[in-house]
Amino acid sequence: MEKTLAIIKPDATERNIVGEIIRIIEKNKFKILRLNSMMLTESKAKEFYGVHSSKPFYNDLIEYMTSGMIVAIELEKDNAVKEFRDLIGDTNPEHAKNGTIRKMFAINQSNNSIHGSDSKENAIKEINLIFN
Ligand code: RTP
Ligand code: MG
Repeated sequence: MEKTLAIIKPDATERNIVGEIIRIIEKNKFKILRLNSMMLTESKAKEFYGVHSSKPFYNDLIEYMTSGMIVAIELEKDNAVKEFRDLIGDTNPEHAKNGTIRKMFAINQSNNSIHGSDSKENAIKEINLIFN
């Protein structure tokens, strides 16, 4: 079984929609292996999104991801990485398909409610970073 990492982001915890989002994840037959509510430290956020360090949105992204509680969830399912990316939808909610989590809940391209790992390798790295 494949694993992936979900993070319910600060805009969603702030609006008390964690339960609604988890309900959708479970309805789509992802198994929750570990779940932890936490504040990301600046250093962990920078390591997590290190691939974006040269992007114009990087500083805002780090500030946003450390601005409030997050809920990190280790998930398991066949083909978990791709299936979860499909379930969360496009980075920009205006482009996300109907029925996706970002279409339903994201505020905008920056504050988009949820993260999903983009490869099997990154999923393992991210799970180790967040849960260790
Ligand atoms: P994520 O890594 O959080 O699952 O999101 P993603 O793959 O769909 O998008 P990515 O390109 O990896 O961007 C990471 C996060 O940075 C913020 N972002 N803001 N304002 C902007 O132009 C912009 N672009 C990206 C979002 O929070 C995005 O999810
Ligand atoms: Mg990404």
